[in-house]
Amino acid sequence: MENKGKKKKNPAISKKYLRPRWKFLSQDWRGTLYIEQYSVSELAQKFGTPLYVFVEREIRENLREFKLAFPYARLRPQYAGKINSNIEIMQICRQEGFELDASSVGEIVLGLLSDFSPGQITLTNLYKSEQDILFAAKLGVKAITADSMEELERMARVGKRAGLKIKTFIRINPALKLGNYSTMEHQYGIPYSYAKKAITFAVKNRYLELIGLHFHGAYIENPLVYTAAAQKMLGLAKFAQNLGARIKYIDLGGGFPFDYGSKEFFKPQDMGPKFIEAFEKLLQKHNLPKPFLIFEPGKVITANAGVGLVEVISNKKVGKKNIAVTDGSTYAFLPDPMIYKQYYDILPATKMNKPRTHSYIIAGRSCDSIDKLGVNRYLPKLEEEDLLAIMDCGAYSNVLSSNFNTLRRAPMVLVKMDGSLKLIRRRDRYSEMFAPELDVLKVAAPKEMRELYNFYRVNFAKFWGSGTNAEKKKEDKTST
Ligand SMILES: Cc1ncc(COP(=O)(O)O)c(C=O)c1O
Repeated sequence: MENKGKKKKNPAISKKYLRPRWKFLSQDWRGTLYIEQYSVSELAQKFGTPLYVFVEREIRENLREFKLAFPYARLRPQYAGKINSNIEIMQICRQEGFELDASSVGEIVLGLLSDFSPGQITLTNLYKSEQDILFAAKLGVKAITADSMEELERMARVGKRAGLKIKTFIRINPALKLGNYSTMEHQYGIPYSYAKKAITFAVKNRYLELIGLHFHGAYIENPLVYTAAAQKMLGLAKFAQNLGARIKYIDLGGGFPFDYGSKEFFKPQDMGPKFIEAFEKLLQKHNLPKPFLIFEPGKVITANAGVGLVEVISNKKVGKKNIAVTDGSTYAFLPDPMIYKQYYDILPATKMNKPRTHSYIIAGRSCDSIDKLGVNRYLPKLEEEDLLAIMDCGAYSNVLSSNFNTLRRAPMVLVKMDGSLKLIRRRDRYSEMFAPELDVLKVAAPKEMRELYNFYRVNFAKFWGSGTNAEKKKEDKTST
């Protein structure tokens, strides 16, 4: 009777399974996982599965840590919207003083919907059409990053036609080689050997205003890559200055590695101070005024702040292999393991207390045999309706997802700073998934309508063997 009214103390999650980057996790005495104060069972019941759960506190901490990592007053970090372009998440980035790296007109529009001003948005990608350039320039974005000589010329043409002087960054491939890392295979940017030609063209062209130089190296595992890139960029900035240009921005992109699974890499805060020291020395060496320094971090901002919840919907044994089929998928929920062979930690979210005795293949629900969220995962014996938590899936998940198998993409829910829950994206609806095709049928001209209608009818008629012979003949003709 002594214990009456006393709450049982929740056991801590075993250190064996908890990574320091998941500060928001806990569990109750039953072994149910909690994300902040919400049990996964409650979240699954409220929003259904598969489901992405985001923790606002974690995103804000990552943004703040990133800024503090680089002690440089003219730091102007940009969030790489492509890695998770959810409007609410982009708004959090803006509130924390980040600007936006947009990779398409669509992302510019999402940026505006997230209340970024045009002057806080840079458009950087491999190719922009004249229409893209005109749209971004007229809107007044911070800069458009030219990826090739042809693109510089295209931008100049658009500027001339519209009577605009287009604020321009030039993306450079600095031809770096450091150990295993090389930019030589990248298809982006103007090769270093052509850089001076491109800079000369941009400086001399009256419809372009060259204000920045850009570099982005993906999957950088050696922090010295940033210093080596800065060295080349500042050499080119000096060259531009001698031609009369003022390079106000040096943009060194994203590419900071993230510790998926047990792998550990350098953090921005490990390299920031040293990098800034080297950067300032280079500025002095070239006698250059201090430019604004842009980085475009992506996955280090949101990856660990996202947890994917999936439910076991079927248990199978194939030979000796245990297969837990979930309602997630590498197509509609977590494409990274399929595209980049990325490893994600998977926790038995409703059986945290149970010994992990069985090796499992965690399968997605699509028809494809490569749809596996994880293989050889030691987990407790799983049953239908068990929940699994896929950790660190806050970046490159929903943005890469497709509707393959006509699966609906998952909703996203945010655990806000004040502890409330906010749905920040709902589940796809079938009606909107079919809309691109149905719209064509609805809006087509009468002749097209007839053809399209017949096209569908003939196929159905053939399939079901219905219709008169005369009708069939007519339909055969229109179906080709
Ligand atoms: C131009 C550019 N900037 C930033 C990023 C973000 O990269 P990461 O998520 O590796 O930081 C990307 C990713 O593709 C990119 O292409």
